[in-house]
Amino acid sequence: MKTTASIDNFAGLSGDENTPLVWRKLRPDEAIMAYQLHLAANADTPAGLVRPDDLAHFIANIQDQGHTLGCFVNDKEMVAYGILSMEPTNNSKLCKLLALPEAELANFASLDGAAALAPWRGNRLHRESIQARLVIGREQQRRYIGATVSPENINSVRGLLEAGFCIRNFAYLYGGLARLVMLLDLDAPLSSWTLCEAVVANDHAGHQAALAKAWLGYGLSETRSGVCQVLYGVQKIG
Ligand SMILES: CC(C)(COP(=O)(O)OP(=O)(O)OC[C@H]1O[C@@H](n2cnc3c(N)ncnc32)[C@H](O)[C@@H]1OP(=O)(O)O)[C@@H](O)C(=O)NCCC(=O)NCCS
Repeated sequence: MKTTASIDNFAGLSGDENTPLVWRKLRPDEAIMAYQLHLAANADTPAGLVRPDDLAHFIANIQDQGHTLGCFVNDKEMVAYGILSMEPTNNSKLCKLLALPEAELANFASLDGAAALAPWRGNRLHRESIQARLVIGREQQRRYIGATVSPENINSVRGLLEAGFCIRNFAYLYGGLARLVMLLDLDAPLSSWTLCEAVVANDHAGHQAALAKAWLGYGLSETRSGVCQVLYGVQKIG
């Protein structure tokens, strides 16, 4: 399937002539569809990989606390979604974890949930959902976009790093789930990096030790035996 990460008004942007896929904002009466997709997409994910969300989370992020995008096949079946949240309580916590001053809360939004149905995975829908949410972030004058992700959720970590997010902290959130805390500054120029250390993705102590040295996570690599590692380093100046 041909897909594209270019998002312009979220219409007709992915899929092909036989399977038109359209991203659009969900209406309040569609919150239940997003919730059901969340349940279906996570039915077989290992515990802790994805934060379980309730219906109220979807309603709030469609009505007044954020924006929720759905990806529809033939404008009927929803196969993926992504949430951009402006909810102040969680976002305020994330700002602290990201060392952003409280005053930046008005300039901050977070990617607060995404999923693609299993038969649709590998079609870049997650990457498209990130790009579409960044477009909304810009529209809403949100310079800083935060995200949290399990270190074991490699497909999600890869999509976020590719979009330019950096790992800036490690924390136990949402009732004790291990999370990498990531930030994208939409106004920052593209960085190049000096590698300091590669940390095995599920080595929680390794992430914390790398971050304690003021290194940032900026990429992924794989060992010859296929073990996934997060690359930590420092930004090159100039
Ligand atoms: C994480 C998730 C959203 C990714 O969605 P997606 O639309 O498949 O994402 P993409 O196509 O952009 O990339 C997925 C990667 O996983 C691979 N992949 C994983 N499972 C796959 C499958 N069943 N079929 C095909 N590819 C798969 C893809 O090849 C791709 O690899 P690449 O990075 O080397 O290109 C999806 O797996 C999902 O819904 N998981 C459960 C919910 C979740 O983890 N949400 C994120 C919470 S932060």
